[in-house]
Amino acid sequence: MKIVEVKDYKQMSHIAAEYIIRKVSENPSINLGLATGGTPIGMYKNLIQDHHLNGTSYQKVTTFNLDEYIGLSGTNENSYRYYMNENLFNHIDVQKGKTFIPHGDVQDFEAECRRYEELIETNGGIDLQILGIGNNGHIGFNEPGTSFNSKTHLVDLKSSTIEANARFFNRIEEVPTQAVTMGISSIMKSKEIILLISGEAKKEALHQLLCSEATESFPASVLRNHPCVTIIADEAAVSGA
Ligand code: GLP
Repeated sequence: MKIVEVKDYKQMSHIAAEYIIRKVSENPSINLGLATGGTPIGMYKNLIQDHHLNGTSYQKVTTFNLDEYIGLSGTNENSYRYYMNENLFNHIDVQKGKTFIPHGDVQDFEAECRRYEELIETNGGIDLQILGIGNNGHIGFNEPGTSFNSKTHLVDLKSSTIEANARFFNRIEEVPTQAVTMGISSIMKSKEIILLISGEAKKEALHQLLCSEATESFPASVLRNHPCVTIIADEAAVSGA
């Protein structure tokens, strides 16, 4: 794992966006793996700005998101589909039919998980995956204890994750208790991974990531076993690591 230390959130967002823009320019048909949460919002803003200023095109790009809450349809403003439309897809020229996110409002979740896993594979896999990290080390919604061999699956969210994500909802009771997420092995199949870590609240997580062996009790530690991971972390997150 390579670590790039940056000054602050703004610089992290800028450097991550610049990297994606370069990769898209080199390979206009790239398959991007995308993340939600607060961390990547600044990066998405930079991508949008660049699209308008410099015309970087996403017409041939395919995107796969990591996860989606169970029980929320894409029109629900707390769904990750809504988040992605609002924060990125509606503002660039990506083809909506080539933006994939697990469906959280289906009846048969096992079939949905199989479908999503196969969809990634039949499209040739993910070239560049963007990740954030949960305070407890989760990546996607792979909570501590998730098998490193896991594929796309249904998860029960830990109460710490529900509490951390409650800030996006009106009331904590509204936060779904389950989600569909790409598995650890699905994420690890990506050719390249960028992990974004910002803010003091993440310094413990970064510290554990840098210090612990690869262990299922801290999901992000699996990234130690990946040949091409870059962590972009700001000073606030690094200071305690
Ligand atoms: C959620 C998402 C993760 C994300 C994490 C951290 O649980 N499923 O993909 O990395 O939150 O979120 P934030 O960036 O808001 O701290």
